[in-house]
Amino acid sequence: MELLIKNARIIDVTQDFVGNIYIKNGFIEEIGKEINKDNIEVFDCKGKVLMPAFIDTHAHFRDPGLTWKEDIETGSLAALKGGYTGVCLMANTNPICSSKETLEYVRNKSKEFNLIDIHQCISITKNFDGITLSHLEDLATDNEIKAISDDGVGVSNSNTMREAMKIAEKNNWIIMSHAESPEFSKVDMRIAENMMTLRDVELAKLSKVRLHMCHVSTKEAIKYIIDGKMEGANITLEITPHHIGLTRDINDYRVNPPIREKEDVEAIIEAIKLGMVDTIGTDHAPHTAEEKQKGSPGMVGIETAFSICYTKLVKENNISLNKLSELMSYNPAKLLDMNKGKISVGIDGDFVLIDIDKKVKINPKEFASKGKNTPFEGMEFYGEVLATIKGGKVKYQLKVNN
Ligand code: DOR
Ligand code: ZN
Repeated sequence: MELLIKNARIIDVTQDFVGNIYIKNGFIEEIGKEINKDNIEVFDCKGKVLMPAFIDTHAHFRDPGLTWKEDIETGSLAALKGGYTGVCLMANTNPICSSKETLEYVRNKSKEFNLIDIHQCISITKNFDGITLSHLEDLATDNEIKAISDDGVGVSNSNTMREAMKIAEKNNWIIMSHAESPEFSKVDMRIAENMMTLRDVELAKLSKVRLHMCHVSTKEAIKYIIDGKMEGANITLEITPHHIGLTRDINDYRVNPPIREKEDVEAIIEAIKLGMVDTIGTDHAPHTAEEKQKGSPGMVGIETAFSICYTKLVKENNISLNKLSELMSYNPAKLLDMNKGKISVGIDGDFVLIDIDKKVKINPKEFASKGKNTPFEGMEFYGEVLATIKGGKVKYQLKVNN
């Protein structure tokens, strides 16, 4: 299996040049300004931007048990359409992913479709009961587990979180924290995020545990995390496209954490510029229209992430495409220990081809996801994903209607 990518503007975390890439048996074999091979498939990029495919540190594919919202196949197709070849899936399925059986179900199904690379999180507390950690001991022998999370809800008992961090540290697992204190959820969602962020940062300081703060959305939470990082805690900070793309005064939409104020968006962008933000996670959360009407929080996001981030960060705030590649590919790959995220020899041949000048109007009818729940409908952003390549195979290509 060979592929020759030609005439691409190649951009990753450190590079930006026009050239060619030769992929063999799934891996990058050669990178250069002039590569010529006989009798192999050629993918001509016609000068468009080619980046390492994106990796989503935070998505919900709803499989098993909630597959009317999404399933592994449609979630993966949506990921490819958005330029992603790797995702980290949250455990709030039905059943909750707390057992070897559920884990194996997801792994087998993703192998069967063989569309993208999927890492499935297991829950921190058994079946999200908020207290039981015994399943973690049972799963400690599973070498493929990289991260644990109760995302969807916070772990409210502080000592349970502390014990979970000890277990995570021992197993070199990442704790992915959905910071929301339930006692404040109905009272004040800003305090809910801030209190739990502060607590998790404090607990992380007690050990070398890898703590990944999901979808950080308030200026206070950003500050607490930066302080924790400065003090040497092993924390990574994730932001979402919707928390930089929307503000509450104009586009309030039900999601947890909620859409925040302009000052919060500015704080996130400032933190990116300071090098304090690590990854962009989409928090892709498909729901039906009926469920949204009844108040289910969340929005789909994996198909629109790049254009929103490119427009808001690169176009409007002078953040470089290299930096965006760091947040969407390089750092996520490092976090999840995937052989991806940069363009160099020996790395997986996973790429996204983008027309950065193309203006796109968000139209949920075109989504591959079952979920059409997006507040971005009708809005225009720059940057269109033209193709996604995984392991040297073109897995998605935009159909051009003339
Ligand atoms: O808005 C949200 N929806 N936030 C979460 O943390 C979970 C997600 C979901 O699963 O629907
Ligand atoms: Zn969450």
